[in-house]
Amino acid sequence: MSAPIRPNILGMTPYSPGRPIEQVQRELGLDHVVKLASNENPLGPSPLAIRAAQAAAETMHLYPDAAAYELRRAVATHHGVEENQVMLGNGSDELIHMLGLLYLSSPEDEIIVGKPSFVRYNAAGYLAPCRVVEVPVNDQLELDLDQMVRHFSDKTRLVWLANPNNPTGTAFSCAALDRMLAELPSGATVVLDEAYFEFARDYPDYPNSVDYVKTGKSVIGLRTFSKAHGLAGLRVGYGFASSAVVDAFHRAREPFNVNSVAQAAAIAALADSAHLERSVRHNSAMIEALSQAFLAVGARPYPSHANFVLADMGEPADPLFEALLRKGVIVRSGTPLGLPKFLRVSVGTQAEVAQFSEALNQVVKERATV
Ligand SMILES: Cc1ncc(COP(=O)(O)O)c(C=O)c1O
Repeated sequence: MSAPIRPNILGMTPYSPGRPIEQVQRELGLDHVVKLASNENPLGPSPLAIRAAQAAAETMHLYPDAAAYELRRAVATHHGVEENQVMLGNGSDELIHMLGLLYLSSPEDEIIVGKPSFVRYNAAGYLAPCRVVEVPVNDQLELDLDQMVRHFSDKTRLVWLANPNNPTGTAFSCAALDRMLAELPSGATVVLDEAYFEFARDYPDYPNSVDYVKTGKSVIGLRTFSKAHGLAGLRVGYGFASSAVVDAFHRAREPFNVNSVAQAAAIAALADSAHLERSVRHNSAMIEALSQAFLAVGARPYPSHANFVLADMGEPADPLFEALLRKGVIVRSGTPLGLPKFLRVSVGTQAEVAQFSEALNQVVKERATV
C-alpha cells in the first residue's frame, strides 16, 4: 500500500514532445533525419551566448544567483520596466505552471483557454484542479476573444491568450484585447503569452504586454529565450507583471529555478541584437517557403506570425505525417490537437525546408498514384 496519487493527476495526459531524431533514425534505419516539430531557432544560439555559457560552466560547482540579479536587470532595462515587475522561470513552461499555483485554489475556479492553443495552460488547470473552459478558435483559426468574453463569470480566474497562438500561428490586435479587458471580471487576470513575440513585429496593432503591465491593467505577459533567441535547451522564460504578483511569485518559486549557465547565456543573447535580427529575417523567408511548399501540393497554409506553419491538408494528416517520417522529416500531426487534417511544420534551415518541400511533394505524388 502507498499514499494515493491525486486522481486529477492520473487523469492528465503527459506532454508529448516531437519524436527525437535519434529514435526516428534507429526505428526507420535512416541516416539523415530533420526535425521541424518543436518551433526552435534553426540558426542556433548567438555565438555570444555560447561563449557566455562556456565561461559560466567553469563555476558550475556553485549555486546560481537565486535572485538572478543581472539577468533580471538586463530584461527590465531592455524592455523599460522596473526590476520588480520581472519574473524569470525555467522556461516559460515553469511560469505557466507557477501562475496556476498562484491563482487557482478551488475546483470551482475557472480558466479560459482557446481550442486549440498551447496545451500547458490546460495542464495548469488540471493540476489545480479547476474547471478548464475551452473556447474554439473561429473559422480563420484565430483565438475568438469575443466568444471567450461570453464565458466570463465571477468564477473566472485566468484567461490564457497566446499571441501569436500555437499551433495556429494567428495573432490578435489591441482592439480585440481592449474589448476583452473592458469586460474582465474583477477577480480575473489575462495572461498574454508572447513566446513568439519577436516574429510578430510586423503585425499591425499588436498588443505588447509591457504596455498593459505598465499601465496597471490586470495582465501578465510571458516571453521566452527558447524561440527567437535560440536557447530552448537552457530553459529560460520571463514574465512581466505588477510588483505584487512578482512578489507572490518569489514566495512560491523554487529558489534556484534558473541555472547559472542559462542566466549567463540569456544576458548575452539579449545583447546580441544582430543575431536576433538575422533569426527574424530568416524566419520570414522560411515561413514564405513553407507556405509555398504547401500551396504547391494543393494544401491550405494559414498565415503565420510565428515560426511554424499550420496547413489544412484536406485529408487525414496522420498517414501524411507517417509518410514524411519515412522520408526522414519529422513534423507534427494536428490529430492530438483536434485538427486531424492539419500538419504543423516548424521553420528550419534553408536546406531543411528544401528537404521538407521535396518530401511533401513526393509523398503527395505517391499517394495520388496508389
Ligand atoms: C505559446 C507557447 N508558450 C510557451 C511555450 C514554452 O516555451 P519555453 O521553452 O519557454 O518553456 C511554448 C513552447 O512551444 C509555446 O508555444
